[in-house]
This record gives sequence, structure tokens and C-alpha cells, in this order.
Amino acid sequence: VAHEYRLEEGLLSRLGQLLAEAGARRCAVITDANVARLWRGEVEEGLRPLACEWLVLPPGEEHKSLDTARALYDRLLEAGVERHTPVVAFGGGVVGDLAGFVAATLLRGLPFYQVPTTLLAMVDASIGGKVGVDLPQGKNLVGAFYPPRAVLADPRVLSTLPPAEWSAGMAEVIKHAILAGGSLSALLTDLSARPADWPGQVLLEMVRRAAEVKLAVVARDPFEEGERLHLNLGHTFGHALEAAGGYRLLTHGQAVALGLQAALNLSRRMGLLEEDFSGWLETLLERWRLPRRLPAGLRWARLEAALRQDKKRRHGRLNFVLPRRLGQVALARADPLEVRAVLEKMGLEG
Ligand SMILES: NC(=O)c1ccc[n+]([C@@H]2O[C@H](COP(=O)([O-])OP(=O)(O)OC[C@H]3O[C@@H](n4cnc5c(N)ncnc54)[C@H](O)[C@@H]3O)[C@@H](O)[C@H]2O)c1
Ligand SMILES: [Zn+2]
Repeated sequence: VAHEYRLEEGLLSRLGQLLAEAGARRCAVITDANVARLWRGEVEEGLRPLACEWLVLPPGEEHKSLDTARALYDRLLEAGVERHTPVVAFGGGVVGDLAGFVAATLLRGLPFYQVPTTLLAMVDASIGGKVGVDLPQGKNLVGAFYPPRAVLADPRVLSTLPPAEWSAGMAEVIKHAILAGGSLSALLTDLSARPADWPGQVLLEMVRRAAEVKLAVVARDPFEEGERLHLNLGHTFGHALEAAGGYRLLTHGQAVALGLQAALNLSRRMGLLEEDFSGWLETLLERWRLPRRLPAGLRWARLEAALRQDKKRRHGRLNFVLPRRLGQVALARADPLEVRAVLEKMGLEG
């Protein structure tokens, strides 16, 4: 699952050269309509030495489905792809997960490259080789571990990222900063919420450090048997909040923000917190317009059911990744009553 990760200004214009060096003469690019509208021209230019087929999908999580995968199989076969034709996922996590799943399964596996275009994809979704699609029964229920040959990230694409997507990505960056502590957590304190104003190399630095947190964890535990579970910090709560809100009340990033806050509060309540970093977290969540209180309309019964549905559950207990300090987390089993009390303090109505 260990794979190459390159983060460089201007990488987009060298994609064709890099793929050609790896032996490709053509490729298939899978992207979505938003990304294509903004960046297709430049990437086409950069892929110039290769003959590339473009498959442009409508944007949105609802298209991360088996139906879309099926349509992509048809179009790729029609275009005459062979075992050695690389598939390039050019987009956010939706495109990456879906294109990766298609690359993993068509003809028993085509060479796969991730070219992430959202902050979330650069620091999280493109890393670690998990690919897959959603089912009506739940998100990411069908999939595989299929690492890309390389992740090729060009931070310039983030210049067109809408504010809501910045916030979503920052929720994951903040998660990585809690896991890593040290210089990443210090760096975030100094950054304004206007990335366009950040000095010179700061964006590159932040993305690199946030990505390195996941790269390091995944290298040590590729198949999520132990330490990789730490990457679920804030996500057991987050996924439950998303599901209990019918996936309409909260975006993933908002749910993760609430999940990080809830994990901190639960850790304090259970006496596991050695260093209270709530001030740091509060500043960052507010700066990035991420919520700290639960929205109206969530019910404990639905939340508890969703918490018990967690894919990572074992033997039916509520397991959480809880922070102990910036830079250290622990796995802990929690009493549902404590969990409920924490959420009620954050605005859960009962
Ligand atoms: N495989 C993993 O390990 C992993 C980890 C985390 C998340 N994920 C998955 O990632 C997905 C979420 O990814 P996401 O947040 O990137 O969402 P996304 O792919 O839906 O992208 C968000 C939005 O931003 C637009 N966009 C993308 N790049 C842009 C750019 N440079 N400029 C302007 N607009 C741009 C997209 O068209 C879309 O509307 C979820 O499906 C989630 O399950 C996977
Ligand atoms: Zn997430």
C-alpha cells in the first residue's frame, strides 16, 4: 500500500512526461465536470505526448456508485483500454475513490494514478490505497485496497477551490494536526482563513505536513489492523452525525469538526485527557467556519443506532479514538451514557 507521493508546483504540466517515463503511450482521465471546466485545458496540454481519453462525470457523492462504475467500464472498453493503459483520477475524493475502484477491477487491474484536486483529497483521500463506491445501504461499502502507482499533486489547483471545500479539507488537516502535534499544530495557529494571502511556500508546507501524517501511518499499518484506526479520530462521531442527519443536515467536514470536538470532550470526561487543547481547537474551528454545536433536529436514538453501525465496530461495543494531547491518541471503549452526555452538552436535544 506504500506508494509514491509527489507534491510540486507545476506538476500538472508535467503529467504526460511522467506517465511516458513510466512507459505509457496513452491514458484514460476520469474527472468531474467542475474540475474539467476549470483545469482540463491545462492538463490536456500537460498530457500532450500521450493520447488520452477523457471521461467526465457529473460532480457529487451520489455518482460514486456501481451504476457509474458500470458506465465507466463500458466507456473504457469502448475506448480500447488494455491491461497497461493507465487510469488517471483527476479530481476530489469522489473521483479518486470511484476511478480507483474501476481501475482496480477492470481487466483485473489497470495502472492507477491519483491527481487530487481538493485539499481533502491531497491530504487524505488520495493517500493509502482505499478505493470504492457507495451502496444504497451505506457509504464506501464496496471497495478494495488498490494503491496508486503515484499520487501527483499540484497545489496550484487549490486556487479555484470554493470556501466550503477549503473548510472540509481543513477539518481533516486539523485531525492530522491533532494526531501529529508538533510543528503542524503550531503552523495552523498562524494561518488566516484566506489561503490566497498566505505567504510563498506556506500552502505547500501545510499540505506536505498534513499528507505526511497519513503517509506515515499507512506505511506502518497498510491494512488497518492497528495504528491506521487512529485516522478515524473524530470520524466515529462524524459518520454517526452525518447519517443521523440523513446526509443533508451536515456535510462530512462539518460532521468531522463536531466529531473532533466530541472526541476531545469525551476524552476529558473519561479522564483520559492529559493536556487540554480546547482553546486551540476552538480557534481553528471558528476560523474555518466549522461548527462546534450540534444542529437542531438530531435525535439520540438515531445517533446511537448509527454509532452501533460503525464499520470499524468490533463485538458490538462503542469504540472511539480519543485524544490525550496534541500528538497522542488512544483507543477507548465508551459507555453510551457518557457519549450521550457529551453530545447533550454540545446541543443534542434528546
Ligand atoms: N479513500 C480514502 O481513503 C478516502 C478518505 C477520505 C475521504 N474519501 C472520500 O472522498 C470523498 C470526498 O472527497 P472531496 O471532499 O474531495 O469531494 P468531491 O470529490 O466531491 O469534491 C468536492 C467538490 O469540489 C469540486 N472540486 C474538486 N476540485 C476542485 C478544484 N480544484 N476547484 C474547484 N472545485 C473543485 C468537485 O467538483 C466537487 O463539487 C468522499 O466520497 C469520501 O468517502 C476517501
Ligand atoms: Zn473524513
